[in-house]
Amino acid sequence: MSASAAVEKGQSELPAQCGAETRVYVCNNTDCRNRGAESVFSALKTVFEDACPTVQIRRYKCFGACNSGPNVVIPDRRCWLSSVKPDDASAVRQVVEGGEWPVRLRQQTDPDLEEMILGMIDAGLLSRGE
Ligand code: FES
Repeated sequence: MSASAAVEKGQSELPAQCGAETRVYVCNNTDCRNRGAESVFSALKTVFEDACPTVQIRRYKCFGACNSGPNVVIPDRRCWLSSVKPDDASAVRQVVEGGEWPVRLRQQTDPDLEEMILGMIDAGLLSRGE
């Protein structure tokens, strides 16, 4: 039985990390979009739809790290991933589920900027897109 079928039947075959509050934000502003953010968004929707359907994949209007995109932020993991490609969707899922953070996707992240991005998300100071 697939995870989505399990949810429809009220069964719990989903990993514990697939909480209803978990959100994954994909920047959708010009620079990230020009580097393929929409394809990343679609790939994440596909990967999470079956395995972790309660995780919400959302577009976001710019994290202010435009030269590092496409950028993906997972607030629950306090994690910003940069230069994400559609093929990285499974790696993003691993991060959501508490796995290791992919080294390649962390090469352009700056700890101070990461804290600023997460702080702004926490405070609701940036437009959240959809
Ligand atoms: S365009 Fe994506 S962080 Fe600004």
